[in-house]
Amino acid sequence: MEEYAILKAEIRDVPRILELTRAHTITRDSPVPGFLEFPIPDNAAYRARLESSNFCYVATAKKPIGFFLAYPRISLEQGFVSGPIANRLLQLDENFIYLEQIIVENTHRRRGIARALFDRCLRDAEEARHPLAYGATSHQPVRNVPLINLHHEFGFRLKEEIAFDGLSFGLYSKHLP
Ligand SMILES: CC(C)(COP(=O)(O)OP(=O)(O)OC[C@H]1O[C@@H](n2cnc3c(N)ncnc32)[C@H](O)[C@@H]1OP(=O)(O)O)[C@@H](O)C(=O)NCCC(=O)NCCS
Repeated sequence: MEEYAILKAEIRDVPRILELTRAHTITRDSPVPGFLEFPIPDNAAYRARLESSNFCYVATAKKPIGFFLAYPRISLEQGFVSGPIANRLLQLDENFIYLEQIIVENTHRRRGIARALFDRCLRDAEEARHPLAYGATSHQPVRNVPLINLHHEFGFRLKEEIAFDGLSFGLYSKHLP
């Protein structure tokens, strides 16, 4: 198995993050899960997102083979991360982190890389004294079973469903120790 390291994402990773995001953004008729009708940020917007958050990671072998982008509330308040899910989170009066995007390349799946990314992010969030983590995964029309299972494995529970534009996402939450 190819060795990999979990590292903080840096600005130089943005082109690869964009490449992976474009490759795994799906439409509602997709047979496989992915970033469901995700409005893809451009290069400058991703740079601003990364600069606004201490909770963005890449899983790197020779190059990044996966990434995990999570954001503190301030990234949403400042408009770097927006949309119906961000809007709902901002109604919740808590100092959360929001797990927005995770991806592992097809050729490297089922080897625990997403688990390692989750684990690192949640440990860092605990250390930074964030009391809550939220994750959103698509429920309809594409049910993202791998990601739902991963949330359950880490002790997240379904809080509510958020529906818009004919799509439905589960909002999962976890209290951090
Ligand atoms: C979701 C995703 C990141 C998981 O990555 P991964 O590195 O393969 O996951 P891991 O190997 O760490 O798996 C951890 C656990 O997640 C769950 N899981 C992962 N893939 C699964 C699958 N295909 N089916 C069911 N459960 C799955 C399992 O509980 C697994 O534990 P196990 O292997 O001991 O059974 C990956 O499938 C992916 O990139 N999907 C496409 C992108 C996407 O949908 N992103 C979400 C939108 S934000």
